[in-house]
Amino acid sequence: MATLEISGLNKSFQVGKQRREVLRDIDLTLADNEFVSIVGTSGCGKSTLLSIAAGLEDFDSGSVRVDGVPIAGPGLDRGVVFQAYTLLPWLTARQNVEFALKAAGRSRAECREIAAEHLQLVRLEKFADAYPTELSGGMKQRVAIARALSYRPKILLMDEPFGALDAMTRHQMQELLTRIWETHRLTVMFVTHDVEEAVYLSDRIVVMGLGPGRIKTTFEVDLPRPRREEMAGSAGFIELQRQVLRSIREEEAGAAVL
Ligand SMILES: Nc1ncnc2c1ncn2[C@@H]1O[C@H](COP(=O)(O)OP(=O)(O)OP(=O)(O)O)[C@@H](O)[C@H]1O
Ligand SMILES: [Mg+2]
Repeated sequence: MATLEISGLNKSFQVGKQRREVLRDIDLTLADNEFVSIVGTSGCGKSTLLSIAAGLEDFDSGSVRVDGVPIAGPGLDRGVVFQAYTLLPWLTARQNVEFALKAAGRSRAECREIAAEHLQLVRLEKFADAYPTELSGGMKQRVAIARALSYRPKILLMDEPFGALDAMTRHQMQELLTRIWETHRLTVMFVTHDVEEAVYLSDRIVVMGLGPGRIKTTFEVDLPRPRREEMAGSAGFIELQRQVLRSIREEEAGAAVL
């Protein structure tokens, strides 16, 4: 089991003397093994929502539960991957993964073995001893994914993990992520600006709106799995992409009027 249940969630930030309401009454449940993407205009609170689910940000009211248990800060039940490369620059790829495993209480031998296994999973076994400065952006993100998966979280939280990558690398990473997801089966919350990416990867797409951040609408992605790159050209895919984009643009148009 790995459900993530967010209910009645409210969040505001103190800005100077004022409180800025950022999320209002968010209800969102990710089912076991479900891949859910969150899209929406910039500033609608996607990253804040993900950080709250990660336990890295507090909230005003409501609840966040993993398998029915309220979260108490970050935990090994949730792996996190951000857009900015968060590898420790003084450690090699292997050591970056081992570092997380050590923190998770694994023995030295286990750290070695599990790190090697996960670097292989993201096809980086040949670069295990390279330092982050010696790796491309895509490679660094693959190490971050290997690290996040290495301690076997039930839930993977990703905030625009491929946002800084070029189109080619991005496609390769999407392929890799679907392959990992289809074999390992994880519950994933995936924040992205790229609607095509959201349709390609997800079971469900949640569109957030502004003023303050709220869930506007949800789209089920009824495309067969395993997903293949060619599907991006199918009528069903293009139609869904169009609907999601329209929904986001409606919000943006509304925001422009405000
Ligand atoms: N630490 C903070 N203090 C004050 N306001 C904040 C803070 N973090 C975020 N905000 C505000 O909360 C709102 C939501 O921000 P958030 O980063 O969650 O949006 P987002 O949907 O992830 O945007 P983007 O698509 O640009 O990444 C924004 O108005 C932002 O200015
Ligand atoms: Mg963001």
